[in-house]
Amino acid sequence: MPQQYDLLIENVHLASMTNSAQPYGEVRDAAVAISEGKIAYVGAKAGFTGHAEQIFDGQGQWLLPGFVDCHTHLVYAGSRADEFEKRLNGVSYAEISRQGGGIKSTVAATRLASFDSLQKDALKRASRLAEEGVTTIEIKSGYGLDLVTEINMLKVAKSLSQFLPIDVATTYLGAHALPLEYANRADDYIDFVCEVVMPEIAKQKLADSVDVFCESIGFDLAQCEKVFTTAKGYGLQIKAHAEQLSDLHGAKLAANFQALSVDHLEFLSEEDVSVLKQNNTVAVLLPGAFYFLNETKKPPVAALRQHNVPIAIATDLNPGSSPIASILTIMNMASVLFGLTPHEVLQGVTIHAATALGMDNKGSIAVGKDADMCLWDIQHPAELVYGVNQHRPTQKWFRGKHA
Ligand code: NIG
Ligand code: FE
Repeated sequence: MPQQYDLLIENVHLASMTNSAQPYGEVRDAAVAISEGKIAYVGAKAGFTGHAEQIFDGQGQWLLPGFVDCHTHLVYAGSRADEFEKRLNGVSYAEISRQGGGIKSTVAATRLASFDSLQKDALKRASRLAEEGVTTIEIKSGYGLDLVTEINMLKVAKSLSQFLPIDVATTYLGAHALPLEYANRADDYIDFVCEVVMPEIAKQKLADSVDVFCESIGFDLAQCEKVFTTAKGYGLQIKAHAEQLSDLHGAKLAANFQALSVDHLEFLSEEDVSVLKQNNTVAVLLPGAFYFLNETKKPPVAALRQHNVPIAIATDLNPGSSPIASILTIMNMASVLFGLTPHEVLQGVTIHAATALGMDNKGSIAVGKDADMCLWDIQHPAELVYGVNQHRPTQKWFRGKHA
């Protein structure tokens, strides 16, 4: 009796994005079979001997894992178009923040927004990503900074998977900015994050990870360390916004807490790169924020490569530094602005992005993984990085279901 499968996708070329010797994990003239939402066979079409209930003819198109956008802040209210205007009149991002704008202005708008309106706006942004082949999205809180709004944001984030073929990973980013009611009392605010909000979020299981903004306009090393120590106590994973505008060695601190990822990293020093490797911490690069803030200091890509640190790429979709709801655009930016090869970029939005979320069930086409896959009408996977806004998936499967 031949092995039974739910679905066979045949006549496709695979960019499986597994760590095989072949770039892109390429398999020509391949077939993929799915059982109960998981990938159950991957290989040459000729080698397939099972029986599938349904057969899908890929007509020679390319099958890739669904993209993983491992760093977004897509739940928020309001717009910062006025600040964009200010920046173009010569006021810097950090200066706007010091004047009480920036993240704080989004916090004011988000606190006033209802669950429904936050959900409606977030759904629109997540839909843009899903249309481009994203099937897993990480979403951070951090525009509420009080107990009620942070919880509301995380609930909105989690709710999106009811409406779209996506999985959502959530991150509590309480240490994002100092809220007005704690002006000049940053240590007291960190106590509130650690003693009031985090315990409640952990109790309600609203977040997978905890993140901080380690920066002169964010929080210092000692404050971030307190957040990490508390998060570990609740069994939450660690992430950090680090070395975006200056070098506080926040990435090193986070990596020493076995952070899943450290993100931004333009100012990361070469000495700290080896600490990432030692702790299996992924370097998440965010070319959208680099582009939108017109930065000139690039992340140390050569050193990351030399130390074999996995590099992920994400949109950082947010209202202030990266209002860019397009993973495909960001992929091109990662190549043009940071010099990553198309192969590195595709690893950055698949297998390495999944690692940055601690999700070993996502990010490649391999037996046992979730069957999240997109079919693309292209001649080669590099086309997805080379062109801007030229392609959309022609078919999509999410957990094995046609989506
Ligand atoms: O990832 N760096 C801090 N947080 C966001 C920006 C948030 C904002 O400006 O609203 C980021 O760039
Ligand atoms: Fe961010």
